[in-house]
Amino acid sequence: MSKQKRKQEFSEIIHHILTSEEFQRRKTFKHHGEETVYDHSLKVAYYAYIWAKWLHLDAEATAIGALLHDFYTTPWMDNPVKAKRIRDMHGFAHPKIAFENTKKYFPEVVNPKVKDIITKHMFPLTPIPPIYLESWLVTFADKYVSLSVFKDVKDLPKYVGINKTKKRK
Ligand SMILES: [Fe+2]
Ligand SMILES: [Fe+2]
Repeated sequence: MSKQKRKQEFSEIIHHILTSEEFQRRKTFKHHGEETVYDHSLKVAYYAYIWAKWLHLDAEATAIGALLHDFYTTPWMDNPVKAKRIRDMHGFAHPKIAFENTKKYFPEVVNPKVKDIITKHMFPLTPIPPIYLESWLVTFADKYVSLSVFKDVKDLPKYVGINKTKKRK
């Protein structure tokens, strides 16, 4: 399959999600630094989709799960409220929220593989490992894309939402 054909197939798979009003709102969510959730999710989806094609896996479920892996509800980087419990911190809580939103806005794409991709993408931060190879691809693609936007290792805790330590006076 030519590169152009692959790109076309990818955009056909994700078109209805990408162009929906709810997904378009993610253009206003800052995710890592200046990058938006929209841009981040699209990059992760494309990498994971290409890898799934190479490996002859389920590229459609991979692209859809990857596109929706960070489909959480509110822009967490702007949130001044500090989570008190670890399980409520962004890094731990957002996969479940993303899956709830997927069921709400795009129930037609939900299947066990898409669920596994979304809910397990933060592994090993969340302790249950993915079941499907497609889910593993998305965890790798997510980390690969995320790490490329950090200039410094000290920014890493931001990725999981635990960088709220304040300087002592
Ligand atoms: Fe995430
Ligand atoms: Fe992500």
